[in-house]
Amino acid sequence: MPTILRIDCSPRGPEAHSWCLADELMARLAVRYPGARVLHRNLAETPASLVDPAFILAMFGHTTAERAKGVPALATSETLIAELETSDVLVLSTPMHNFTVPAHLKAWIDQVVRFGRTFQSTPDGKIGLLKDRPAYVIVSSGGHFTPPKARQPDFLTGYLASILATIGIRDVTFFRLEGLSRGDAELAEGYRQARAQIEARLPS
Ligand SMILES: Cc1cc2nc3c(=O)[nH]c(=O)nc-3n(C[C@H](O)[C@H](O)[C@H](O)COP(=O)(O)O)c2cc1C
Repeated sequence: MPTILRIDCSPRGPEAHSWCLADELMARLAVRYPGARVLHRNLAETPASLVDPAFILAMFGHTTAERAKGVPALATSETLIAELETSDVLVLSTPMHNFTVPAHLKAWIDQVVRFGRTFQSTPDGKIGLLKDRPAYVIVSSGGHFTPPKARQPDFLTGYLASILATIGIRDVTFFRLEGLSRGDAELAEGYRQARAQIEARLPS
């Protein structure tokens, strides 16, 4: 029975547009994967801890003894990585903050993208150690970040695709929920377009 890991990143919690669309997506996935187990992580409610000196020591300490001292600081990282390891599908909902991922999501990334644990460095580049799986990412934004309406850079989607690929997750699909702060008509159009993207990728 597949396990779906759902991660929500908006500080607005269940009120968030990204969360609401993720609810719709989850309903669709429930039909596609009957009986699937769902793991839910609300990063706004329980934020991932920030990297600290002990965490860095555990990863990059020069001696085994030094690295061992830092190991307790990896507890959160191990929990979050275990969630990825036990899941077969990833659903991630996130707003765009200042052209990129919000701090809650960046903190999660820093915990799960770990040298020697979820990726290996080789002369040919980084090799992901997690199994690939379908990853569906909902991105909500006040303005537009895709042409022809984009009036701002998008440092979110390319970055997120690259960092997920680094740990082995390459099958990533983005659903873009844009123009949410541009009045009711744009908001409705933003939902219409995002739902159309979902229907195209995961027909009902
Ligand atoms: C700190 C902060 C930064 C933001 N930066 C951007 C941005 O760079 N581009 C944009 O289009 N919207 C930006 N917004 C607006 C949010 O993306 C927008 O309100 C979105 O609807 C929030 O989605 P949510 O309801 O899923 O949280 C920002 C909002 C906040 C709080």
